[in-house]
Amino acid sequence: MYTILQMEPWFDEKEARAVFDYMDSGGWVTEFSRTREFEESVKRYVGSRYSAAVPNGALGLTLALAISGVGYGDEVLVPDFTMVATANAAKMLGARVTFIDIDPKTLCMDFELMKKAVSSKTKAVILVTINGRYPEEIESFVLFCRERNILLLEDAAQSLGSFKDGKHLGTFGDIGLFSFSAPKIITTGQGGILVTDNEEIYEKIKKYRDFGKEKPGEDHYITMGSNFKFTDIQAVIGLEQMKKLPWRVERKKQIFSLYEGNLKNVQEISFLPTNLKNTSPWFIDVMISGGMKEPLRKHLKERGIETRLFFPALHSEPAYARVNETYPVAEKVAVDGLWLPSSSKLTDKEIKYICKEITDFFVR
Ligand SMILES: Cc1ncc(COP(=O)(O)O)c(C=O)c1O
Repeated sequence: MYTILQMEPWFDEKEARAVFDYMDSGGWVTEFSRTREFEESVKRYVGSRYSAAVPNGALGLTLALAISGVGYGDEVLVPDFTMVATANAAKMLGARVTFIDIDPKTLCMDFELMKKAVSSKTKAVILVTINGRYPEEIESFVLFCRERNILLLEDAAQSLGSFKDGKHLGTFGDIGLFSFSAPKIITTGQGGILVTDNEEIYEKIKKYRDFGKEKPGEDHYITMGSNFKFTDIQAVIGLEQMKKLPWRVERKKQIFSLYEGNLKNVQEISFLPTNLKNTSPWFIDVMISGGMKEPLRKHLKERGIETRLFFPALHSEPAYARVNETYPVAEKVAVDGLWLPSSSKLTDKEIKYICKEITDFFVR
């Protein structure tokens, strides 16, 4: 029996040849001109003015907060449902994380709750455009934060290839972040990129990424910084992956539609309302009602189909242990939510097989 993975990276001889050619040309592996090309390519695709590659998404978020002066005593608002890197980026700098519940329609931070939570200590809001979706009021987030001089950091780690009416997600905030970790729509193994339209922010990112140097290669340090650099070996892989991105964006949409169509008669399964003109779902996210998630997972696993549980409600994790707080929507989706196999590599036949197994489980 072969296993259908929940997610897997997808490379072929194009990446292999690009890496060989790069090594053959005597490149130093560390970041240089190919990294600049990769940054250009992502920047062009998402339509931002500037882009800066970073070692991974998690450190990209930390870097974005650090250059914005977020530190001890400051407050950062974070959705309770997200990958833990979003919250940890603030906590690692000594800031206080305030969790905000999510909107059940989009799984993104609830705008009204965010507004209520803002205090005089709020220095940043991290809006996660999760799984290629965005809050209906995304422009209001921008205005609200701008009027109060609060940094709007858009964690679009999962949103490469998703737009709102032609504007790419990740470009609404002051700074946006994309991740290229192994399960993402395209990957460089590890990796991330920060995007912004603000030249001053871009200059700060570049300096902080390079030990705070005034100019690359000169040992004169004008600001705090560290080593947040990328490598050209990742960049040559990323450049090949970028060529494949448009096809994958469309394929993810087809995969979502196929699942939705094949599972429409299964009452226990529901899909989030998803506008496929804008959203390219990175993961196929479904809600399983009636406490049947674990039995379904087991049934699928026995048949070689891997799934993944949703992120837990972060406040309840030991790393945060906010036992007296409650965020009902994040808690509910953590219980009901399941990610089905979602790789762009999946064939139509595999999707039909997965859907048949799910249907059989519920009609038994
Ligand atoms: C929403 C979100 N933010 C941040 C990250 C962290 O990115 P990375 O794994 O590249 O560090 C992820 C990774 O999946 C993510 O999903």
